[in-house]
Amino acid sequence: MHIEQQKSLKAFNTFGIESHAKYFAEIHSAEDLREFVRGAQFSGEKKLVLGGGSNILLTGDFDGLVLKNAIPGIELVNRTGTEVIVRAGAGEGWHDLVLWCVERNYGGLENLSLIPGLTGAAPIQNIGAYGAEVKDVFHELEAIDLRTGEGLKFGPRDCAFGYRDSVFKNKLRGQCFINSVSFKLTNLDAPQAVYQYRTGYGDLRKKLDEMKMRDLSLKAVSEAICQIRRAKLPDPKELGNAGSFFKNPSISQTQFKTLAAKFPGMPHFPQDDGTVKIPAGWLIEQCGWKGKRVGRAGSHKDQALVLVNFGGATGQEILDLAQGIQEFVKKQFEIELSLEVNVI
Ligand code: FAD
Ligand code: EPU
Repeated sequence: MHIEQQKSLKAFNTFGIESHAKYFAEIHSAEDLREFVRGAQFSGEKKLVLGGGSNILLTGDFDGLVLKNAIPGIELVNRTGTEVIVRAGAGEGWHDLVLWCVERNYGGLENLSLIPGLTGAAPIQNIGAYGAEVKDVFHELEAIDLRTGEGLKFGPRDCAFGYRDSVFKNKLRGQCFINSVSFKLTNLDAPQAVYQYRTGYGDLRKKLDEMKMRDLSLKAVSEAICQIRRAKLPDPKELGNAGSFFKNPSISQTQFKTLAAKFPGMPHFPQDDGTVKIPAGWLIEQCGWKGKRVGRAGSHKDQALVLVNFGGATGQEILDLAQGIQEFVKKQFEIELSLEVNVI
């Protein structure tokens, strides 16, 4: 197996932050990984599983072994009536998988088009966008225990999915390497197929109308979402970022009523559990942080929730900026913003 030492991670995180890994290896199969885990050479080393690096903030060098996921393969594993099960190697690009499904008219992933990163990371924070989350179509995943090399299987309940959350961000944080994920999708070409497109979120319907599509299709929904995302979010190739830096907070009805009386225009989204979700981007903007730059870091001019690296920022600089924003929002609204990004 090829092991690199003192490897720069700058090209491996979308914030574009400079950091070095003591050891770095690409993992092409579950067998590759078992070799590392069971061998003696790295048994005492800390391990970091790395996908596309689009949801991490590196705050220093990594004193251990980085396992860069590169496990390939997408296959149809089962077809019954209108239902198909598609399994993807964890190293497949997420958007490539979405397109693979859209091309075959398998519905379920189209609203998650153009989310950066690899398939193996999708369950980690239960990725979501435009009214859909991975948990809606998740079937099962296979993982390898990083301490023992044992193969593990997780069904939907085992993953304890929540909003930008799962067991892999909590009890099992850093403990396993997800090597494949399968999804339960709808085959729209099956004669009896009935499919509910999810077009109700935000400006999706408007975009579809603008595109003047005569008939709704998976391709049209995917394309509309790509267009919205390209217009709204900064491209990490041009401006380092990791998407939303914070989660959108949910507050109690009582706190909502108090705040709504003070800020009548406050956008808000009632949740099934009785709480009310408030867009963090709005809170940050109200505090005057939108588009604000502090040295080499800042909040994006069009999307306050996205923190950016203007070039050469360290992870600590981004984290300091985030803390400044958190303190301001707490003082102004009595709301704690929690991080979506994984700080390493
Ligand atoms: P990484 O950043 O490499 O890893 C993230 C975490 O998961 C790390 O803790 C890592 O150790 C762990 N991990 C990664 N792979 C594995 C594995 N195979 N096994 C075990 N642990 C693993 N997210 C959304 O939910 N919705 C969005 O709309 C969205 N939009 C974004 C837009 C932009 C411009 C950017 C830059 C990011 C956006 N994100 C969004 C965040 C990000 O793309 C997702 O969280 C994505 O799933 C991260 O994938 P990754 O492969 O880059 O993971
Ligand atoms: N808003 C502002 N100012 C801003 C940004 C947003 O006032 O600078 C307000 C607006 O009222 C807007 C509302 O916030 O209507 C929501 O904004 P947007 O539609 O851009 O979505 P978001 O809540 O900021 C969430 C996800 C995104 C996901 C989009 C679309 C979180 C933390 N973020 O963003 O996910 O793509 O919805 O579904 O839930 C990510 O997780 O990295 C990510 C990009």
